[in-house]
Amino acid sequence: MSTPLTQHQLEIRRNLEAWQNKALLRRLYDGFYERIVALLDTNVSGRIVEIGSGIGNLKSHLPSAVSTDLFSNPWLDAVCDGYELPFVNGSLSHLILFDVFHHLRAPNAFLREARRALTREGRLILFEPYISWSSFPVYVLFHHEPVAWRATIDFTEALPRPRDYYAAQGNATRLFFRRERRGWPSGWSLIHAEAFAGFSYLFSGGFSRSALYPARWLPRLERLDRALARWPRLFGARCLVGLQPL
Ligand SMILES: C[S@@+](CC[C@H](N)C(=O)[O-])C[C@H]1O[C@@H](n2cnc3c(N)ncnc32)[C@H](O)[C@@H]1O
Repeated sequence: MSTPLTQHQLEIRRNLEAWQNKALLRRLYDGFYERIVALLDTNVSGRIVEIGSGIGNLKSHLPSAVSTDLFSNPWLDAVCDGYELPFVNGSLSHLILFDVFHHLRAPNAFLREARRALTREGRLILFEPYISWSSFPVYVLFHHEPVAWRATIDFTEALPRPRDYYAAQGNATRLFFRRERRGWPSGWSLIHAEAFAGFSYLFSGGFSRSALYPARWLPRLERLDRALARWPRLFGARCLVGLQPL
């Protein structure tokens, strides 16, 4: 059986290869990163830190961000566990997690730590899968991570031990859009919760599959996504969430 590190590095290698060879993927991510950058509050001082940076693409749009991950790689600035951030209290202006929140088995344990490290006016920004009627079958059938739509979510603040592999792609939709747990997350204000249609993304095959359309069709599919964005519960595929400590 492969260790989490071996598994991670295999995925990193596959993702790097897709990133380098698939211009369509890079163009789609350009749009995602622009959405994230637009949510930053540039008046807040402090460092911007990305948790779970993987292959570190966000730097292309946000060179000042500190890239970190659980596992070391040459392009990262630091090794860092989201549950135990190596930053002093109130020192960060933003924490950014791109496709990382759904890997946090104990979101409250992470939120407590994020609140400690962020300055009062700071922002926590999450970019995640969004589960809608149309994206659900795609995420279930074509993505290797579980959606875990009905699974119990651990709301304790205790640090998960051991840090075994966890994935629940549906968590952001359930918690920030369906608001399954009333009053959650306490101590935070939800300043942004936007789900957008993503047929251009779903049909791109992402990092692991071949695209179902030629790159020159991207503008047309993006127009379609913009038109369908009005009905996120039907057509949503990705979401952007912003939180601020209260
Ligand atoms: C799906 S990948 C996303 C990588 C990158 N953000 C991207 O969008 O390509 C999830 C990443 O989160 C990292 N990760 C998972 N749990 C973490 C934790 N507790 N603290 C920090 N990083 C974590 C993994 O090592 C992995 O690189």
